[in-house]
Amino acid sequence: MNWEAAYQQKDTPWDKGGPSPGLLDFLEASPMSGRVLVPGCGLGHDVRAIAELPDTRVLGIDIAPTAIQRARRHKPKRDEAFLEADLFDLPGALTGTCEWVWEHTCFCAIPRARRVDYVRAVRQALREGGHLAAVFFLDPGLPDPDAGPPFGVTKAELNTLFLESGAFKFIHEWEPKRGYPGREGRELMRVMQAR
Ligand SMILES: C[S@@+](CC[C@H](N)C(=O)[O-])C[C@H]1O[C@@H](n2cnc3c(N)ncnc32)[C@H](O)[C@@H]1O
Repeated sequence: MNWEAAYQQKDTPWDKGGPSPGLLDFLEASPMSGRVLVPGCGLGHDVRAIAELPDTRVLGIDIAPTAIQRARRHKPKRDEAFLEADLFDLPGALTGTCEWVWEHTCFCAIPRARRVDYVRAVRQALREGGHLAAVFFLDPGLPDPDAGPPFGVTKAELNTLFLESGAFKFIHEWEPKRGYPGREGRELMRVMQAR
């Protein structure tokens, strides 16, 4: 998948023009604080929503330069920043610095073969005891599940990757009450804590 070409051609059907509804509900119930990393942030809607909270410093990263350029066009209102970076090659200065990682449509965008690397990368960015809060795309509803992205995931696969690997501890999961139209019933929200 050539993400940069998709942004240049404005062929970005995943971009809904605003933050994940599940994120907004989550932030209302459980505000984040401290440094927050948003991998695969695209145009930065979720970054800006999290940065509305007073005690957050939010960094959105994306591999596509055009996404980052567009995200930076919004005048920062609070402590939000964007960086062109590959999640699988994060700057060493980020290691162990984040209280939170917010996952939304990055995990489902990467090839299945790189999921172990995804777990390693987000774990590395988090402080011990930091949290990964995520909305996972269980079932993108594609006729051929291997024709993604997006690539779906099962709860069992999440458990193997994040929990049984010893990287994270399970905290909580639930079905989001709200989702973008077309994704209702296809998503799972989960909070896990870095071990
Ligand atoms: C499906 S899009 C979702 C974007 C955004 N989260 C949203 O919901 O609008 C996946 C994003 O992940 C980015 N991405 C893919 N692989 C990446 C990687 N290895 N490191 C950082 N970003 C990556 C893509 O450029 C793209 O912006």
